[in-house]
Amino acid sequence: MAPTQKHAQRVYLRDYAAPDYRIPGIELQVDLDREQTRVRSCLKVERSGDHHRPLVLHGEKLDLISVKINGETLDPASYHRDDTTLTLNLREPATTLQIETEINPAANSELNGLYASADTLCTQCEPEGFRRITYFLDRPDVLSVYRVTLRALKDQYPVLLANGNQVNSGEDGQHHYVIWEDPHPKPCYLFALVAGPLQFIEDRFTTCSGREVLLRIYARSRDIPQCDFALSALRDAMIWDEKVYGCEYDLGQYNIVAVEDFNMGAMENKGLNIFNTRYVLAQPATATDHDYRSVRDVIGHEYLHNWSGNRVTLRDWFQLSLKEGFTVFREQQFSADHDSAGVKRIEDANLVRTQQFREDMGPMAHPVRPESFVEINNFYTLTVYIKGAEVVRMLSLLVGAQGFLRGCSHYFEYYDGEAVTTDHLVGAMEAACDVDLSQFRRWYEQAGTPRIEVAGDFYPDKSRYCLCISQNNPDSSGGRQPPLQLPIVVAFFDAEGNALNAQSENDGRKQHEHTLVLTDPVQEFAFTGLKSQPIPSLLRGFSAPVMLQVDLSDQDLAVLAGHDDDPFCRWDAGQTLARKEILRWLNDPSICALDEHFAESFGKTLRAELPDRAFQALALRLPEENYLGDFVEVIDPEGIHRSRWSVMQTLARRYTDELLERYHALDAKLPYQRDAASAAARALRNTCLDYLMTLEEGSVTALALKQLKAADNMTDALAALALLANQALPARDEALAFFEDRWREYPLVMDKWLRVQAVSRCEDTVARVRDLIRHRCYQHDNPNKIHALIGALAHTNPLRFHERDGSGYQLVAEQLLATDAKNPQVAARLASAFNLWRHYEPGRRERMHKVLQNISGAEHLSRDVGEIIERALVKP
Ligand code: BES
Ligand code: ZN
Repeated sequence: MAPTQKHAQRVYLRDYAAPDYRIPGIELQVDLDREQTRVRSCLKVERSGDHHRPLVLHGEKLDLISVKINGETLDPASYHRDDTTLTLNLREPATTLQIETEINPAANSELNGLYASADTLCTQCEPEGFRRITYFLDRPDVLSVYRVTLRALKDQYPVLLANGNQVNSGEDGQHHYVIWEDPHPKPCYLFALVAGPLQFIEDRFTTCSGREVLLRIYARSRDIPQCDFALSALRDAMIWDEKVYGCEYDLGQYNIVAVEDFNMGAMENKGLNIFNTRYVLAQPATATDHDYRSVRDVIGHEYLHNWSGNRVTLRDWFQLSLKEGFTVFREQQFSADHDSAGVKRIEDANLVRTQQFREDMGPMAHPVRPESFVEINNFYTLTVYIKGAEVVRMLSLLVGAQGFLRGCSHYFEYYDGEAVTTDHLVGAMEAACDVDLSQFRRWYEQAGTPRIEVAGDFYPDKSRYCLCISQNNPDSSGGRQPPLQLPIVVAFFDAEGNALNAQSENDGRKQHEHTLVLTDPVQEFAFTGLKSQPIPSLLRGFSAPVMLQVDLSDQDLAVLAGHDDDPFCRWDAGQTLARKEILRWLNDPSICALDEHFAESFGKTLRAELPDRAFQALALRLPEENYLGDFVEVIDPEGIHRSRWSVMQTLARRYTDELLERYHALDAKLPYQRDAASAAARALRNTCLDYLMTLEEGSVTALALKQLKAADNMTDALAALALLANQALPARDEALAFFEDRWREYPLVMDKWLRVQAVSRCEDTVARVRDLIRHRCYQHDNPNKIHALIGALAHTNPLRFHERDGSGYQLVAEQLLATDAKNPQVAARLASAFNLWRHYEPGRRERMHKVLQNISGAEHLSRDVGEIIERALVKP
């Protein structure tokens, strides 16, 4: 039986109570040292309302040196202290509280609070890390103005950074100090400091109202040549938020620091973002086109938090999506304005369908605004982030783009400097647009993916077409939940793929695209002016995060795949054809010939000269194995892999000449360029190579080896390496050795090298991953390394993770437990790989169940891993 966690206390949204005390001001003096850092804090504490409850401060892993109230040192007998709190009785309504503590950053392996990364000391406080720095009311609805003095040895820590503006600095002997002031009241999760031997690059930005901002990116000196792109992305984000949302930056400085050891991607600390190096560093030789986009998007994301999160912040952690979902949506808009908007939308929609829908299928299903949690770190989920972003997108569809921006301005102006809830954002839309969104609010409260069923009926005598749309909202135990308000965008095409203008009987409009608003379990929408049976294009732009069921013939799907003017629907029609084909092969292993509609449609896409080659590359790719698993009763990972591979191989055999021709035609020996069109050409060319490699022919292997060795950019080099790592041939080792030799001194590039081996379809993958754990480049305490090797095997290699003999599970479980002792957050993310165990065929289900029970029984399990495992084991 699973032991109960010692600290496994569940927190409920319904128990929220406003804080008993305010802390309007805090002065921190931090004397930095790797092992012994002294923190002196001086808090201005004010009682909130009329009560006599004590002040209960949070604090963990702190050595308490002294406590003073209004200048008088307290006798330890007059306060109460345990592992997680410090309780004091305050007589006056306003008090000055001075607390001195000591911490050991070098011993902090959780990377939460103040910790060491290489020679640098840095912090991560969201969500509850500040309590590992000093005693405080560590909750987001306590907002304070900070003044921070950092003091350290000059030679070891020449750079001393904190939030806000630098207001003073000086020296005393071998030490120096820097004083920072942040005038904007903020919750302590946005506090940050950095100290270390860092270099920087800088730029200046003039805001729309004419204020000058100094922008800097700090990194280790060897990484400085790779920071220019990030700095230009920051400028782009600043311009964009001014132009689109009218949001201006509000400090004289904006600093970004890149560190190698970081649990997450990046953190939006006010005026002092801290980033994982993987989202800052980018150069053609070391970063792929995808990496460049990620850097730009994450820089944008953290910058955009300055308003959605920092200026207007959260009342409590249940509201996390208020900042994350909203900011992801803003980031998606920013990104779409700088690249192919269609491709961006397809990628985002695909992520929701392949990842978030799976979260909804398993034990971690929860509403966008969760109702309870044990460990808040486990709720930085796909549901909170990307379903949350879809909910905001639907808001903007329902009230219109202009209305949405008015609502946002209202929200930012009205709640500036406050800590609010998701209800306030929806309320701002209602106020600005004069609409009733009470039903819409259920999106924040209901877990699960809505199922939408559509049936179409054509009445030729009346040139009339009716769509009957029903929605079904099952909860995790199969019960029914009330219907949601949601937008379904539709359009119609004729059999030749021509766009049709139908007249809606609802609003009388005659146009190509219509937005239908669902509110009831079943609704009918009629259109007139259609001379022949139209082909409906449904859920255009993925207008709602729902599972859509509609019976379109393969012919109709092929028409949409070739002609739909909505990129998402066009792509999706092709994916549906491909999915049906792969499932056909899966269900009948004797099949060895392709369906003609599918094969022809694929051929057309391959031969087409589409203006957007990035779209074309996406359209040619077959649905991922993890996604295919959502369409079968019980998952057989080997069967799914085999049928997908066979379909790919059969396509490659049929279209070998076209694929080769395309590959070579795109291989114009031009030097590398980073623009979107060149990147799109690379994507298309590497997709062709992907198909060709399934032929398992020496000539193609040679082509890939040549590409790897000749590449002047990481996109082409990595694409070739990944394909070669997928084949158990001598060329694999040659390629891996070549790559390693070239990049051994670049940790982020070695992460890619580890990853391609971890996701390989070769039979010896698990054994190889085991060996790689001992490779010189692997570091057990670096989150990037763990994700690249163990995380990639567990989450993106279904074939080998679900190895029949259980060796994949064994390896991941072992590493998970080893990691948990040092870094529970990273371990918890590995644990989620077992979440869907109930959906697998009996042999694997049994094995995964055993592994989960073993983990659950392990000694000293963290609260983070404990919660994930308990949820997975509990009967649904
Ligand atoms: N606030 C988060 C970072 C964070 C997450 C801190 C969890 C502590 C715990 C930040 O804004 C964020 O969302 N970062 C993402 C990247 C983003 C582009 C989605 C991340 O780190 O993965
Ligand atoms: Zn964020």
